[in-house]
Amino acid sequence: MKIVIGSDHGAVALKDEVKMVLKEFGDIEIKDVGTFGTESVDYPDIAEKVCAEVVSGAADRGIVLCGTGIGISIAANKIDGIRCALCNDVYSARMSRAHNNANVLAMGGRVTGFGPAGEIVRVWVKEEFEGGRHERRVNKIMALEEK
Ligand code: RB5
Repeated sequence: MKIVIGSDHGAVALKDEVKMVLKEFGDIEIKDVGTFGTESVDYPDIAEKVCAEVVSGAADRGIVLCGTGIGISIAANKIDGIRCALCNDVYSARMSRAHNNANVLAMGGRVTGFGPAGEIVRVWVKEEFEGGRHERRVNKIMALEEK
């Protein structure tokens, strides 16, 4: 699986932590689109970079991080083809895959500690979409892009 990850300045440390968790899997190719320092950057720009990789198929899934995870998840969900789930707990992470087929995960570097964030990522990476009745609903979500 290829996963693209990006954060604004509010979550650079969490981004490094998440990359370490992704490396545990051993078979995940990680692309980091930045940012890499503490200098202030705008989270919509990071969301755009990450989501472009997912929409083009260059990456299977994306992870976006900012201070709260809110701004970058809002930005990501403006992009056609993206279903971004802001998850602060493991149950939401599991359901975002099983029921919503989320292709982008958002978290907040100033909200979620490294330990919980690691568990969220482990579950989110492994959980499969259940399909069935959820597929109909996800299709309806995606159809909203045409309205
Ligand atoms: C940046 O200071 C902060 O606004 C950003 O990281 C994020 O929390 C926005 O939702």
